[in-house]
Amino acid sequence: MLDQGAPPQSSSHPVPATPGIGARLMRRKPVESLVAEGGQGEGGTLRRSLGLWQLTMISIGATLGTGIFVVLGEAVPKAGPAVTLSFVIAGLTALFSALSYAELAGTIPVSGSSYSYAYATMGELIAWVCGWCLVLEYGVSVAAVAVGWGQYLNELLDGTIGVTIPAALSAPPGDGGIFNLPALIVVLLAMAFLLGGAKESARANTIMVLVKIAALLLFCLIGIQGFRSGNYANFMPLGMAGVSAAGATLFFSYIGFDAASTAGEEAKNAQRDLPRAIMLSLVIVTALYVVVAAVAVGAKPWKRFNDSEAALAQIMKDVTGQTFWGTLLAACAVIAIASVVLTVLYGQTRILFAMSRDGLVPKVFSRVHPRTGTPRANTVIVSVFCGVLAAAIPLGQLADATSIGTLFAFALVNVAVVVLRRTRPHMTRTFRVPLSPVLPAIGFSFCVWMMGSLSAVTWVVFGVWMAVGLVFYFLYGHRRSRLAAVEPAAPAVTAQK
Ligand code: ALA
Repeated sequence: MLDQGAPPQSSSHPVPATPGIGARLMRRKPVESLVAEGGQGEGGTLRRSLGLWQLTMISIGATLGTGIFVVLGEAVPKAGPAVTLSFVIAGLTALFSALSYAELAGTIPVSGSSYSYAYATMGELIAWVCGWCLVLEYGVSVAAVAVGWGQYLNELLDGTIGVTIPAALSAPPGDGGIFNLPALIVVLLAMAFLLGGAKESARANTIMVLVKIAALLLFCLIGIQGFRSGNYANFMPLGMAGVSAAGATLFFSYIGFDAASTAGEEAKNAQRDLPRAIMLSLVIVTALYVVVAAVAVGAKPWKRFNDSEAALAQIMKDVTGQTFWGTLLAACAVIAIASVVLTVLYGQTRILFAMSRDGLVPKVFSRVHPRTGTPRANTVIVSVFCGVLAAAIPLGQLADATSIGTLFAFALVNVAVVVLRRTRPHMTRTFRVPLSPVLPAIGFSFCVWMMGSLSAVTWVVFGVWMAVGLVFYFLYGHRRSRLAAVEPAAPAVTAQK
């Protein structure tokens, strides 16, 4: 296969003035161009201020949140106590893909994450599809997470001042309300932090991450006191199909471990630290999930889980018989979920930043504010979009739509790692997936399996989403791509202009 990432060479063959549609859809961006452009936006550059600690915290911050605090309550009725196994299956899916992410993030450390990896390996159309899936992973999950935040906020208000926000103002249409105000508020709060700068946001995130880890450990300490082995008697009441359906739903709780890879252009030593941050965060998060889930289903019979409640806080209340502990957990969850909103929103802005720099989305997304070194206009647009989505759509549908988009993007990353090994075998890699292509192939298969376990409705939502994305690409990105003007004989030179 032609290695478009190699330095440009003169060709003695005549080339057509305008490449055919197939060639245009397959045009690839040289890895060197991707890396050389790192940090550069319209009118300024992003600041490199993040070390390994902050990057790991960004990934944990983006991962640990609604999935364990809220979605667990939706998954238990599907799998019963075997939900612990569902967490392991979802975790394995994440693990294999995380290995591929780690290799590519260390090799191509740019803000576009898997979108950029796909651009370098599989061409523009696939890159666009991947980027469009990332909007589901990041943009739509911000909305889903913000909705979960509202549930815990109500729990907290109820436990402290005995008041809850009325359903009309705390639930979207379709879920018994008119508008989800708390969801909008948390997105706007995150926006305020992000406008302050990446380093400032990372600092706030670190504090929030420490609070949420402490809260989950506290849950385990208290929940274990209510543990009854009888709750495990009927371990897999709905069979393996239930376990994998719950696994697909719970995959949502792993989304975000790749968030560090969107900070590639703001990391001090991206090539060394990104792979480490991705793997470290995934290991910490998986361990916490499995233990928390095991304690939760041990402390409460699976049939009594109800998907409309703040599950962990309820268990704390039931076990202790005191509202105080449930309220404390709700307070921690409010902080915890806010950090997911903050970091995932961050990731979305940086992915659009990279796509905009390539010309596939409007330039406003790559404009950098000279004082803060952040893409301010981008941050405001994305926040308002996500805030309104969060306020108007029910959580369950959003979470599954997010999972299918993410799984698709992860599947592509597993392919990208193998393609880059073939096309650029001698590139410097700070991390290598062991046993490639076997492990990436397993990672790919897991993603496809999980996608197959999602409901038909989710597939329809996904199909509509992709169709809209393709229309946008052919009407806008395809023509405005910076690679559109590239002469076939000299792609790398023009791409770096
Ligand atoms: N993994 C993130 C969460 O569970 C999206 O909130």
